[in-house]
Amino acid sequence: MQITVPEFRAAKTKGAKLAVVTAYDYTSARLCDESGVDAILVGDSVGMVVQGHPNSLPVTLAEMIYHTKCVMRGVKQALVVGDLPFMTYQVSAKQAVRSAGRLMKESGAHAVKLEGGVRMRAAIRACVDAGIPVMAHVGLTPQSVHQMGGFKVQRDADALLADIAAVEEAGAFAAVVESVPADLGAKLTASVTIPTIGIGAGAGCDGQVLVFHDLLGLYPDFKPKFAKRYADLGAAVKTAVESYCNEVRTGAFPAAEHTFR
Ligand code: KIV
Repeated sequence: MQITVPEFRAAKTKGAKLAVVTAYDYTSARLCDESGVDAILVGDSVGMVVQGHPNSLPVTLAEMIYHTKCVMRGVKQALVVGDLPFMTYQVSAKQAVRSAGRLMKESGAHAVKLEGGVRMRAAIRACVDAGIPVMAHVGLTPQSVHQMGGFKVQRDADALLADIAAVEEAGAFAAVVESVPADLGAKLTASVTIPTIGIGAGAGCDGQVLVFHDLLGLYPDFKPKFAKRYADLGAAVKTAVESYCNEVRTGAFPAAEHTFR
């Protein structure tokens, strides 16, 4: 059964922790879905872990629609949230509705995510009024990396409490909370009725999200402190591809069982 937005939101009242992971293509989405995640975020982190950029700023709406479409084909149960990329919603509430509408309509995503608290209140409200479920994102907002002076832990408790209150009031059904001290993550979580999905925000959040490539040890460029590696698939891939190269070079592959007669 497909997990719906109201069910995802209601998990907080039931005290059920939410497990969210990012995915960007059919195969990884299918593997995550079959592993029982509650939601898949098609994050604009695709710009770093798939496209190789130093941040998510270059990602376009057309690319997010493409990746979200691929993910949708692999998912039967998880809630799928598509990320709105940089400069596709910050200009005005109207622009936010247009971009979120395109992402939902063209990809089939169940909801969208956008970054920002108080300053995104009008955009969130306009999307929700148009029937578009919005997951908010407060704390470290990677699309503002240059304004924030880098990927830094956010510690301004008053500003963050105002941000999370604003997104709840505007109608967001959940909020990602990124890179805040654990006690502040717990405080933000206790201050709202919507679930908080933490990434580097401590165990007090209502759920957690990890980037697929971080969880599996596939992204060599950078390992954030908050990312736990549950496997070292990067090393496994290298060993497998090296074996393949050796076998091609020695003639061991293809063997009889890989050959048509
Ligand atoms: O783009 C992304 O993957 C995200 C998560 C890190 C929350 O925003």
